[in-house]
Amino acid sequence: MEFRFTEEQEMMRQMVREFAAAEIAPFVERMEQGEFPRPILAKMAELGLMGITVPEQYGGAGMDFVSYIIAIHEISKVSPTVGVILSVHTSVGTNPILYFGTEEQKQKYVTKLARGEYLGAFCLTEPSAGSDAKSLKTKAVRRGDRYVLNGSKIFITNGGEADTYIVFARTNPEEAGSRGISAFIVEKGTPGMSIGKDEKKMGLHGSRTVTITFEDAEVPAENLLGQEGEGFKIAMANLDVGRIGIAAQALGIAEAAVEHAVAYAKERVQFGKPIIEQQGVAFKLADMATAAEAAKWLVYRAAWLRAQGLPCGKEASMAKLFASQTAMDNAIEAVQIFGGNGYTKDYPVERLFRDAKITQIYEGTSEIQRIVISKHLCQAC
Ligand code: CAA
Repeated sequence: MEFRFTEEQEMMRQMVREFAAAEIAPFVERMEQGEFPRPILAKMAELGLMGITVPEQYGGAGMDFVSYIIAIHEISKVSPTVGVILSVHTSVGTNPILYFGTEEQKQKYVTKLARGEYLGAFCLTEPSAGSDAKSLKTKAVRRGDRYVLNGSKIFITNGGEADTYIVFARTNPEEAGSRGISAFIVEKGTPGMSIGKDEKKMGLHGSRTVTITFEDAEVPAENLLGQEGEGFKIAMANLDVGRIGIAAQALGIAEAAVEHAVAYAKERVQFGKPIIEQQGVAFKLADMATAAEAAKWLVYRAAWLRAQGLPCGKEASMAKLFASQTAMDNAIEAVQIFGGNGYTKDYPVERLFRDAKITQIYEGTSEIQRIVISKHLCQAC
């Protein structure tokens, strides 16, 4: 067993760490005020971070999956907002085209997405189809060389900012379940596609989350992704991998909570000594650091499996389940250690606390991760 990054992965870690400290950290307050981090994404594109795992022939950096996870992890320690923008852009915004697209679709879209000229988004969730994704109602009817889309999607991360949207719609009304669903690449500005309200969220203030409505939106037939009826499997297969990205985002939050809490506890003196020397606080920190370490190995083990091309659905769900719980627990404890200061916006743990919660909800709630894990356990018996 090898519990070490390769030289290339270590270089990635160092580069992203420096970038996050120098460029993202000074931008955090602007994101907190609701600004979408366009200038940051432009710099990330220059560094090749918008297409880390995309092969060079399609404009990417051609690096391994572990390197991608390192980038999400390190970025999220400083800004979970930038972490989720990158994760959604890559794993569910770009990869469906890379893995299921035709050569023409890859040339047309993946190259631009990988170079950061385009931003990607993923439209699965609907008002009455959240966890129960296969009950989605958006329809796509073939008319000649086009599909006409009608329906609405909610909670679309990167919505309104993205240039391409992977949209899931029902092409076969006779087929109520997952087999009647197809996937489409829909370009920004498609007539009939409208961007609705921005959600006012608890956290991740710099990331955009919107409703998208399709009213007789015409999509060229060549933008069908995969075959008709394959859409649900495309969604699930990409979520399997996407969940490792969200797990890495949660890991970043969990570790950041430990780092901030340790630094504060060393400085803060009460009853004549730093609070880190007081057992009540020291034990909290020990538990937080231990949980973050455990989350780290679940996340990197899932990423390693993915990098080897091995099945990783169960491990991805376990990593997301545990890392998101750890992010939340550690953020709560960090606020507690900061005391009254932790409840103010003057210290970063208040933001981590708000940012952590969503990691237990999007890309499949913790309850959905338990369903996925338990289904794998059933298959194994
Ligand atoms: N890979 C490939 N195919 C899969 C699969 C996978 N991981 N999981 C299921 N399938 C296939 C099944 O084989 C089955 O195929 P057949 O009909 O041919 O047999 C089909 O899909 C239906 O499978 P199930 O009956 O198991 O489906 P289900 O209704 O029980 O749902 C679920 C499974 C795991 C609960 C799924 O609905 C799910 O993941 N729900 C959560 C949705 C979700 O994660 N949404 C996230 C939105 S994106 C987002 O959040 C991005 C963001 O903003 C950050």
